[in-house]
Amino acid sequence: MKYKVAIITVSDKSSKGQREDLSGKVIEDMVSSWAEVISYKIVPDEKDLIKKAIIDELDKVDLILTNGGTGLHPRDVTPDATLEIIEKEVPGIAEAMRLVGLAKTKTAMLSRAVAGIKGKTLVINLPGSPKAVRECLEVIIDALPHAIDKLK
Ligand code: MTE
Repeated sequence: MKYKVAIITVSDKSSKGQREDLSGKVIEDMVSSWAEVISYKIVPDEKDLIKKAIIDELDKVDLILTNGGTGLHPRDVTPDATLEIIEKEVPGIAEAMRLVGLAKTKTAMLSRAVAGIKGKTLVINLPGSPKAVRECLEVIIDALPHAIDKLK
């Protein structure tokens, strides 16, 4: 496979084994035709642990897809962790997910997801539910190989 992907599921419940991580599996299925998932981790909603999980994958993969922790709950800190790592934001990716998502569900506006670049790695936040992950990834997936090629 030409592209390498890391999946980071951010969820207190899944990290404790209290909820099966269906969203991570949705991501794996959706990228599997053009990318190899070489890393898959589940971390709790803790900013430092999310940052460490992202930093550990930088430069090993072309694309890091996080899912979960993008909403308004006090423990939702995935975008905040991501913003402390990336060098440049790519706002159109998150804008597109929210715009298209709004046509299906008004709560799409509640995801604070961000996307951006650190070195040669693209980092994208997705919301947490399997339905939201599928809907959001569908919007951006066709642009991702081109986006990654531009980083080289
Ligand atoms: N986007 C789409 N396309 N479809 C959805 O069902 N769910 C929303 C939103 N984005 C949703 C969506 C909801 S209900 C929330 S609370 C936010 O994503 C944040 O989700 P997270 O905290 O699990 O990341």
